[in-house]
Amino acid sequence: MSGNGAFMTSRTLQTIGQQVGRRSWAEPWKIKMVEPLRMISREEREVALNEAGYNTFLLRSDDVYIDLLTDSGTSAMSDRQWAGMMVADEAYAGSRNFYHLEEAVHRYYGYQFVIPTHQGRGAEHLISRVAIEPGQFVPGNMYFTTTRHHQELAGGTFVDVIIDEAHDAAVIHPFKGNVDLDKLEALIAREGAARIAYVSLAGTVNMAGGQPVSMANVKALRALCDRHGIKLYLDATRMVENAFFIQEREEGYADRSIAAILFEFCGYTDGAWMSAKKDSLVNIGGWLAINDPVMFEELRNLVVVFEGLHTYGGLAGRDMEAIAIGIAESVQDDHVRSRIGQVRYLGDLLNIWRIPIVQPVGGHAVFLDAREFYPHVPQVEFPAQTLAAELYLDSGIRSMERGVASAGRDAATGNHHFPRLELTRLAIPRRVYTQAHMDVVAESVRAVYQARAETRGLRMVYEPKYLRFFQAKFERL
Ligand code: F0G
Repeated sequence: MSGNGAFMTSRTLQTIGQQVGRRSWAEPWKIKMVEPLRMISREEREVALNEAGYNTFLLRSDDVYIDLLTDSGTSAMSDRQWAGMMVADEAYAGSRNFYHLEEAVHRYYGYQFVIPTHQGRGAEHLISRVAIEPGQFVPGNMYFTTTRHHQELAGGTFVDVIIDEAHDAAVIHPFKGNVDLDKLEALIAREGAARIAYVSLAGTVNMAGGQPVSMANVKALRALCDRHGIKLYLDATRMVENAFFIQEREEGYADRSIAAILFEFCGYTDGAWMSAKKDSLVNIGGWLAINDPVMFEELRNLVVVFEGLHTYGGLAGRDMEAIAIGIAESVQDDHVRSRIGQVRYLGDLLNIWRIPIVQPVGGHAVFLDAREFYPHVPQVEFPAQTLAAELYLDSGIRSMERGVASAGRDAATGNHHFPRLELTRLAIPRRVYTQAHMDVVAESVRAVYQARAETRGLRMVYEPKYLRFFQAKFERL
């Protein structure tokens, strides 16, 4: 293991920092409990990767050293969250922890009616069923895998209306997640407002590289939706991180708290679904929240069928308590700064070494640009999947493909979707890894980059019907 090398890098950076009088920030917590990591040999990793069909989703986590597969459900909970779980109320109906959750969503996100769900896709399922009629369109700022899948299952057709810049990894734009209002107007003009189910807005945009939406954009979007009588629903999964970028980059918000920005942003939308496994610092859970009482009635009825009673939605009382506490912790300014600061630290190292990544570095992850990494591997040979496999072989680091395998097939033609972005995501769990871990990751990426010319692509040998990237298997060409 290159422990010394990792240390050297951060020292070098600090030396650079001292030259310009740098004052560092540090995480607003200290470590109370640790989980030992294990690193297996390169030969053992070869075997493990072969058995997993070159799909990092199919590896055993015991065979992984630093796990950057996802920031979902992988964060470290605080002592307060754990304490809250111990005194939770496991009643089937009306658990006090449900009311704590409801109160936290009211207070920080501002929506009136709240329904817990087992995780984000449970909420996506419910809202898609209730708000989409077969044949309708669902415009949104770039697709997300499970979101689009539920919209399609409900008979909708997703239409991408994100700004063009979002599809170009190298372009620098402060709000690459923005909706292109002209694209949306054109869709409404072509299809008629009645054929638009709702606008599906995500902050930040996962598949674009964790890129934010500006407050100006959501305001304009609200006005546009009002003119046409169209609802605006928010995927609030990483909206706290989105609020950080507004505070950092948008005029008039530098002195507003993350909590105030979050509250204002949500106020322009009619409701939201949430995977609490991200921003809210828990291992499981989600919710759906809405302001319309009629729709709430329908959703509250439907949740009983698919998730559980409307006061637990598939969660234990302790899970709801952990979310309620996690929400309050997640909106603290110093927490968000250090969380995104760590992601940026990794991105900055890769930028210094001129390794191609999505610019600018987003909220939850650093995305490697696999097209630029492997220009000799065509997209049908899964360059981003290949890169994820190579990283694992090099160092036991687990990442995730976000390219053609994730994009799946067109529901109508059956052909592959070929997204312009062919990315390998290094997602950083919250409050889990240290700066030295980030150094080790950066150095492994650099080693794989240096060996890129010899790398060959993959062929898919098993393809599941739904959300294929989770379980597909590949072979080396
Ligand atoms: N929306 C966004 C933007 C997401 O990133 C996710 C999950 C979901 C909805 C679905 O939530 O997993 O709780 O059912 N993203 C994870 C990821 C899986 O790794 O990016 P879920």
